[in-house]
Amino acid sequence: TMMRELSGLNSLEEQVKKRLGVEKVIIVSGDSDESPWVKSELGRASATCMKGMLEGENIIAVTGGTTMAAVAEMLTPELGKDILFVPARGGIGEDVKNQANTICAKMAEKAQAKHRVLYVPDQVSNEMYQTIVKEPLIHEVLTLIKSANIVLHGIGDAITMAKRRKTSASDLEKIREKKAVSEAFGYYFNEDGEIVHKVHTIGLQLKDIADVEHVIAVAGGASKAKAIRSYMKQDRQNTILITDEGAAKELLIK
Ligand code: F6P
Repeated sequence: TMMRELSGLNSLEEQVKKRLGVEKVIIVSGDSDESPWVKSELGRASATCMKGMLEGENIIAVTGGTTMAAVAEMLTPELGKDILFVPARGGIGEDVKNQANTICAKMAEKAQAKHRVLYVPDQVSNEMYQTIVKEPLIHEVLTLIKSANIVLHGIGDAITMAKRRKTSASDLEKIREKKAVSEAFGYYFNEDGEIVHKVHTIGLQLKDIADVEHVIAVAGGASKAKAIRSYMKQDRQNTILITDEGAAKELLIK
């Protein structure tokens, strides 16, 4: 629209897209670090973006976090009918309100769509893990997750995330030592976008993301610019980034 052109958001989107090498960038005005309502705007933009992608039957896999929770709040039944929300991965240590399962249920409630949950313990032995994935109900949900045509995820600052989760002292040390900068899907990445640590859990793995039709990353706030840059360092050509002006401007510095 005219307003977006006048405010320069369109040109900012082009610059950030070029810089990160992603499929598309959508920027909302403001900085979610400073004004909480900007997170809701990220949510609104995500809902609009998703609406434009829906075709036939849709399985949307989502991660956790406060940004995803804000997206959930902005969904309406207008989004479409044939949607099933599933959590992208099993537990990765978030509080209940920030968990993918909780957000999935909220999204389905707001959109009047369906959802499935995946309850797996956070820390299990390999033996237990092999048993769990063979449980018929779990297996069924995992199959649905692996066939998601849309993945909606957050990106966080590595240390912030490691602290927010109940990360063990030894893992926290490893994350620090290996200079992790960003976190997404339970993976921690360094400045070059290389994986330096991973939370062991079932569901979508990073390598699966490359084959998903639509991937939407939602992350804003100037404080997340470093993390966004790190996560986007590797090939994220099928990713649409929805962010805010605060993060975008910071991303273009250096
Ligand atoms: O823990 C789930 C998760 O999506 C992480 O992968 C991500 O780093 C984080 O939440 C983002 O959280 P927030 O939106 O609260 O910054």
